[in-house]
Amino acid sequence: MKPRILMCAPRHFEVAYVINPWMEGNVAHGSNAAASRQWNALVALLRRFATVETIAAAPGVPDMVFTANAGLVFGRTCVLSRFLHPERRLEEPHFERWFAEHGFDVRLLPQDLRFEGAGDALFDRRLPLLWMGHGHRTDAAAAAAIARLLDVEVEPLGLVNPRFYHLDTCFCPLDGGALLYHPSAFDAISRARIDALVPPALRIAVDHEDAQDFACNAINIGRDIILNRASDTLIAALAAHGFRVHQTPLGEFMKAGGSAKCLSLKLDEARVSACAAA
Ligand code: ARG
Repeated sequence: MKPRILMCAPRHFEVAYVINPWMEGNVAHGSNAAASRQWNALVALLRRFATVETIAAAPGVPDMVFTANAGLVFGRTCVLSRFLHPERRLEEPHFERWFAEHGFDVRLLPQDLRFEGAGDALFDRRLPLLWMGHGHRTDAAAAAAIARLLDVEVEPLGLVNPRFYHLDTCFCPLDGGALLYHPSAFDAISRARIDALVPPALRIAVDHEDAQDFACNAINIGRDIILNRASDTLIAALAAHGFRVHQTPLGEFMKAGGSAKCLSLKLDEARVSACAAA
C-alpha cells in the first residue's frame, strides 16, 4: 500500500513577509508560475511512490504550501500546530477543518505552547522515538506535552542556526534507522544525544553546502529519497545505505525557507514496532 501524503498547491504562494533568514531579500521576488511548475514536478515524482492528497489553497496564507507544519499525525490522531508567527497562525483553522473532515481526532495543545507540527517533530524509523526540535519555532516545553498526548518517547533537540529553524531542515530519519543530518545545526548536548542513540554506521553527516541546498529536507519512502539537490558525494553515501536519490528543483520554495519535506505531510505515521526496533 502506498503511503498517503498531504500537500497544498502553490496557487496563493509568494514570499509576502520575512519570518526566517531565507526569506530576507525575497519578498515579491518569486515567480508563482515557476513555483507551480516545480510543485507539479514534485507531485508527479511523489505519485510514483505515494498517494498525494491535497488541501485547498486559501488566499492570504502564502506559506500554507508547507503542509509539514499543519500538525503532527500519529495513527488517527493529529496534534494541530500552534504557530509562533501571526502570519502563519491564520493557517490553523484551514488545517484543523481538513483533519477533522478527513477522520482525524484533532488534539490541541495548551494555549501558551508553540508547536510547528511535523516540521519540528520527526519519528525515528528504528527506535520507538519522536525527535523534536526547539529553539526557533517550537517551544522546548512542547516535548513533554506531545509525549503525554501521544504516549511516545520524545527526544528534544536544540537548534542553534537560524537558517535551520525547523528540525526537518537539518535532520531526516531514514527507513531502517539511518539518519541524514547536519551536525552543526544542533547544540552540543543534542549532538551528544544523537551520537548516543544512533550508531556511527547509521549516521550520515551532511556538509554545509548540501545542507544549504536543503538536502536534509528530504522525503523518504522506502528505499527512495526525494529532495531538491544533493552532491555526488552525498548521493554515493546514501546509495551505500541502499537508497536511491531523486532530485527535483525547488528553488522557488527555498526563497521562503522550505523544500521537498516542508511541502509534504505523511498521513500514515504509526508506532515503530518492537521488532523493527530490535
Ligand atoms: N516560510 C515558512 C516559515 O518560515 C517556511 C516553512 C518551511 N517548513 C518546514 N517544515 N521547514 O514558516
